[in-house]
Amino acid sequence: MKPRILVSRAVFPEVISRLAGHFEVDDNQADVILGVEGLKVRLADKVGALTAATDPLTAAVIAAAPKLKAVCNFAVGYNNIDLAACSGAGVMATNTPGVLDDTTADLAWALLMATARRLPAAERWLRNGEWKGWEFVQWLGTDVHHATLGILGMGRIGQTVARRALGFDMKVIYHKRTPLAAETEAACRATWVDKATLLRESDFLVLLLPYTPENHHLIGAAELALMKPTAHLINVARGGIVDDEALISALRQRRLCGAGLDVYEGEPKFNPGFLELDNVALTPHIGSSSRATRMAMAMTAADNLIAALSGQRPPNLLNPDVLA
Ligand code: DGY
Repeated sequence: MKPRILVSRAVFPEVISRLAGHFEVDDNQADVILGVEGLKVRLADKVGALTAATDPLTAAVIAAAPKLKAVCNFAVGYNNIDLAACSGAGVMATNTPGVLDDTTADLAWALLMATARRLPAAERWLRNGEWKGWEFVQWLGTDVHHATLGILGMGRIGQTVARRALGFDMKVIYHKRTPLAAETEAACRATWVDKATLLRESDFLVLLLPYTPENHHLIGAAELALMKPTAHLINVARGGIVDDEALISALRQRRLCGAGLDVYEGEPKFNPGFLELDNVALTPHIGSSSRATRMAMAMTAADNLIAALSGQRPPNLLNPDVLA
């Protein structure tokens, strides 16, 4: 009999077919959100799972799955997985780094351009039939070219965003705990600065760092107060890194010019204050959402699961201590 696995969310049929060649697949093509209790039930008899960033793989869920050997997120982020609980229970955990860098960087730029040039509000205005004719001072935006791009969290996606800035003749500054190697900095044409300088000097500040308890509300009222009133904040990383209430207040009072947001605190909850603002561009956590990239993410997760359950080290193992 083939090993039994769960695919926790709806995915492309090609992914299910591929997995079905190796496993007996319990899929969730109806895309019902399983949550803690649903996952406990569905994982009770499974040796592996393909999971999404929306699945809370808590210590209680892992404990309720005595046969589990591997959980393979089809996401680069893995703040939904309790890695210590996985290691303690002998469960390998994996993610999908690399395959979504370009697509997520593209969305960061789309949001940056959208907030800079006020596209969502201008489009709503046009759709509402309010455009009566061209005016000299109509929908004035912020120039992106020759501005200063700041990046907080300069991993693969941050570097991909930075490289795209060359075409806009931008100055690129970044902050991360350990500065990049000189040749990587040169390839990105980026300069390391401390966090306060990054906040003070960025015209566009893009957040690209993982959510961890230490990063909770890393951008709050104090940090927003350091930013220029002409600046824009872009978050395509994770909700919770920004204090949404503080951001709404800064945007409402025009202490910050604009924001482009793909992620929110407590998703899928959403602070309704954002909807009252005309200086935000909002998308529903679609950073990696192109068909090709979502396919690559799911297939990478499938590769990880197949490797893990056939006695090999999965390529994107997050908790190598589990093998010790
Ligand atoms: C990721 O890969 O982490 C994206 O946010 C999708 O969940």
